[in-house]
Amino acid sequence: MKYIAIILILLQCCLALKANSMILHKYESIFNFGDSLSDTGNFLRSTGGHAPTSPYGKTFFGHPTGRYSDGRLAIDFIAEAVGLPSLKPYLEVVNGSVDARGGVNFAVAGATALDPKFFAARGIPALIMTNHSLSVQLEWFKKLKSSLCTTKQDCDTYFKKSLFLVGEIGGNDYNLAFALGATFEQLRPIVPNVVGAITNATSMLIEEGVVELVVPGNLPIGCLTSFITTAPPFIKDDANTTTGCLNRYNEFARYHNDYLQRELQLLRQKYSHARIIYADYYGDALRLFESPVQYGFSKSTHVACCGAGGPFNFNVRMMCGSTSNVCKDPSASILWDGVHFTEAAYGHMAKGLLEGPFTSPRLVA
Ligand SMILES: *[C@@H]1O[C@H](CO)[C@@H](O)[C@H](O)[C@H]1NC(C)=O
Ligand SMILES: *[C@@H]1O[C@H](CO)[C@@H](O)[C@H](O)[C@H]1NC(C)=O
Ligand SMILES: *[C@@H]1O[C@H](CO)[C@@H](O)[C@H](O)[C@H]1NC(C)=O
Ligand SMILES: *[C@@H]1O[C@H](CO)[C@@H](O)[C@H](O)[C@H]1NC(C)=O
Repeated sequence: MKYIAIILILLQCCLALKANSMILHKYESIFNFGDSLSDTGNFLRSTGGHAPTSPYGKTFFGHPTGRYSDGRLAIDFIAEAVGLPSLKPYLEVVNGSVDARGGVNFAVAGATALDPKFFAARGIPALIMTNHSLSVQLEWFKKLKSSLCTTKQDCDTYFKKSLFLVGEIGGNDYNLAFALGATFEQLRPIVPNVVGAITNATSMLIEEGVVELVVPGNLPIGCLTSFITTAPPFIKDDANTTTGCLNRYNEFARYHNDYLQRELQLLRQKYSHARIIYADYYGDALRLFESPVQYGFSKSTHVACCGAGGPFNFNVRMMCGSTSNVCKDPSASILWDGVHFTEAAYGHMAKGLLEGPFTSPRLVA
């Protein structure tokens, strides 16, 4: 009896896995918009090959590829699970003879959801690292579209089997401003604008014929080394007793995420034929800080693997890549450079989206 039960359990497990991969394999292409969490080489190309430098890419590719990690990003693991090669950056596709029909990555490190001029007009301090904001990435998509499909019928058939990720984007609208001293009072009022840019992009894609969309929220930014080391004292003093993350920043991220989810609900009503999936990057990443050992990470969750030394191996003026002190085993660190995650962390996060409970409705039902 016991053995039969075990066999049945094994059978169930494996049938479930097979079903998951079949559902994912229905996608024949992936398109991604975003920032450094998912950039696979656009920023590198847009700056003429300047950043990021070695030891980025050390664990997986063996050399820098433009990814802000030691190896693969969540988007790489997602493409792998779908059975597609990793996404080519748009700026490589446009000037080459690369076939774009398997999908393209429009994400650019440093990109904001809102255009840079928005911040200037409001007098909000913002460090503009790139002008390739979400609206520029959408223009890229529109330009590329004629090489993907032509007639409406052709496009409808093609997009039925395409997965679109609209973000994560929007984190930089806050992060780069916080880094320059913007206050919660200055940034909370722009949340509707940032979310508006994301939902406008989502609507525009649906109007273009896209029907399968994942829209991620913001990360628990209060857990990032960059925030923990540079926060003003009154915020530092309010660290979470369980995770060590800064409560005020995490509350801010949740405020953005709640707002985004409410707006996505309205979009679902407006476009009932589309599948609009919210991805809970916040919960997906936070669990790593809550139970690091369970996921194979060291208990020093906020210490960057690559940095310039000090208690958190982080110095905002000497980031990873300039003078770098790299940890021996990156897979034991959640954070790679204090701002971005390690390949190991991205692997868990991708799994949480593909197999776990962090998509709603579930990506794989
Ligand atoms: C593509 O190539 C042209 C001509 O060599 C160059 O002017 C342009 O900047 C390139 N575009 C990108 C996005 O690299
Ligand atoms: C963005 O565009 C503005 C206006 O054209 C320009 O002055 C600025 O240098 C650009 N910034 C970057 C990072 O390319
Ligand atoms: C979103 O689109 C609406 C309607 O086109 C426009 O009025 C609004 O300014 C846009 N919001 C953002 C943040 O781009
Ligand atoms: C501290 O973190 C725990 C675990 O993530 C969370 O449940 C709790 O609400 C946080 N406390 C505060 C004050 O935010």
